[in-house]
Amino acid sequence: MADLRVEVAGVSFQNPVIPASGAFGFGREYEKFYPLSELGGISVKGMTLNPKDGNPAPRIAETPMGMLNSVGLQNPGIDAFLEKELPELSKKGTRIIANVAGSTVEDCVEMIRRIEGTAVDMIELNISCPNVKQGGAAFGTSCESAAGITAAVRKATTKPLMVKLSPNVTSITDIAKAVEAEGADAVSLINTLLGMKIDINTRRPVLKNNVGGMSGPAVFPIAVRMVWQVANAVKIPVVGMGGISSGEDAIEMMMAGASAVQVGAAIFTDPYAPVKIIKGINDWLDTHGIASVSEIVGTVQPW
Ligand SMILES: Cc1cc2nc3c(=O)[nH]c(=O)nc-3n(C[C@H](O)[C@H](O)[C@H](O)COP(=O)(O)O)c2cc1C
Repeated sequence: MADLRVEVAGVSFQNPVIPASGAFGFGREYEKFYPLSELGGISVKGMTLNPKDGNPAPRIAETPMGMLNSVGLQNPGIDAFLEKELPELSKKGTRIIANVAGSTVEDCVEMIRRIEGTAVDMIELNISCPNVKQGGAAFGTSCESAAGITAAVRKATTKPLMVKLSPNVTSITDIAKAVEAEGADAVSLINTLLGMKIDINTRRPVLKNNVGGMSGPAVFPIAVRMVWQVANAVKIPVVGMGGISSGEDAIEMMMAGASAVQVGAAIFTDPYAPVKIIKGINDWLDTHGIASVSEIVGTVQPW
């Protein structure tokens, strides 16, 4: 059994596998499959200051080796999370990452203030949701706005702050450097890639929102490339995601430079995916005689 412990921005995780925001709710539904204590952590469903219904259905579509979603940050609001979900979740023996998004900087700062002093281990500031009209990706697509919101949130919290980056940009490394300069403790990437699917019989987009976020195995090489580029551009840790569905994928993402990984779409096809990935990482390390998973981070040897 290899040592699977990793550290990200001063937070220790018992293993590097974290269900990604939006793929695992607040964890409750998955407890019937396995104890949540087996996971490195949980990034909870993206939350906003007030409850949100999200976008009209249909808002999920299958694509070759992936999926499109336009859920649009449906969530019960930050107070419902803090009052109804967090007290139980904090007893489960895993790290809790609060994923937050806002349509204004003020909304984000207010949410962060409410989280301060709670059992949340880390904030994941989502500046990259492609499925909301205001805020979301709008913050994450220019260096100025990404820096601005990071600076404001940084001042409002003492908790470790991870900023989640959008792949729908010209230079993800520039955005990563901008949020690092304003005090982000870590970055996570990638959020979904903007995509579209059309029903050729009705000539209508399959999603009611017309466009949606693409994720799943089809995006994996793009995510690996972006994690590698960002890990080489910043000094803060990188949490990698996008299409991971096996232990080998997780190892590859970590070799690209990720200190930990998140798993999203894979959970929709197999709720056991996170625990299978943890086992897969351990098996690979044992087979290769590597004592600790942290030894592989960033070890790719580019030509
Ligand atoms: C249905 C669905 C909902 C999502 N909701 C959120 C969200 O609320 N906040 C967020 O930061 N990312 C959200 N994401 C993006 C994922 O966390 C992840 O960044 C992305 O799906 C890439 O990883 P994957 O290919 O493993 O799914 C969502 C993804 C899906 C598929």
